[in-house]
Amino acid sequence: MKAAKKFSFQRAPAHSSQFPFMLINMAMTADGKIATANHTVASFASRRDLARLYELRATADAVLAGARTAGGDDISMGPGGKKYQQARLKNGLAEFNLRAIVSGSGSIDARSHIFQRRFSPIVVITTGRASVEKVAELRKVADAVETFGEKKIDLRRALRWLRREWNVRRLVCEGGGELNAAMLAADLVDEIHVTICPKIFGGRDAPTIADGEGFASLIAAARLKLESKKQIGAEMFLIYRVLKRR
Ligand SMILES: NC(=O)c1ccc[n+]([C@@H]2O[C@H](COP(=O)([O-])OP(=O)(O)OC[C@H]3O[C@@H](n4cnc5c(N)ncnc54)[C@H](OP(=O)(O)O)[C@@H]3O)[C@@H](O)[C@H]2O)c1
Repeated sequence: MKAAKKFSFQRAPAHSSQFPFMLINMAMTADGKIATANHTVASFASRRDLARLYELRATADAVLAGARTAGGDDISMGPGGKKYQQARLKNGLAEFNLRAIVSGSGSIDARSHIFQRRFSPIVVITTGRASVEKVAELRKVADAVETFGEKKIDLRRALRWLRREWNVRRLVCEGGGELNAAMLAADLVDEIHVTICPKIFGGRDAPTIADGEGFASLIAAARLKLESKKQIGAEMFLIYRVLKRR
């Protein structure tokens, strides 16, 4: 059953950007991994980090993730408990955030846990690579399935659509590494929040904060400015601003 469209996103000011403000929020090990190579462990940060994830979601209209992240067991991409829902209302946001999933080939399983949690709209961003059958299946469980490009997702168009059609002004992207890399390459990321956890996973195939094809030269690399650092217990909480290229 689809969620009722009772969302009351605030109207965007006329002068604001055509894209949402996007922050990436990730926890990583000291060797830069966001999960083990076999993907069985992806939740390894402290309770403080989890609280921070919900605090950040409570500042955003929408949470975005790639198909492998969004399709995980117990993943709902929601606001968390009552306390955070109230914080959202206090921040002038809808009580529940919009949920957006990027799935270029439509590989996200329509039976995934996220589609069973019907508290707020879910939109799937895909390409012409997703079969007609797959799109029809996803349309039954999502509130919108939108195609942006034939083979490759045009993320800039997709983000403009989120801004325009769903009034998403502030967006938390929660990975994984493939989606983050594509967002950085498209120059759509404004801030990166990283929690460095005192662990080493190793593994050349373990995902990192930005995977994908990677930047080929130093000059092409995403450049960051450290905005803040805070140690809480054994973890470091860093916030970087991404320096825009365009
Ligand atoms: N530590 C943390 O903070 C944290 C946070 C999030 C996730 N994780 C972990 O990271 C792992 C997942 O990361 P991941 O990098 O493997 O996967 P991911 O980015 O979550 O998902 C990859 C999938 O998303 C779609 N996708 C991503 N970028 C795309 C693009 N530019 N164009 C088209 N489709 C795109 C594709 O779906 P299709 O196959 O349908 O084309 C792709 O197969 C999991 O183990 C997860 O638990 C850890």
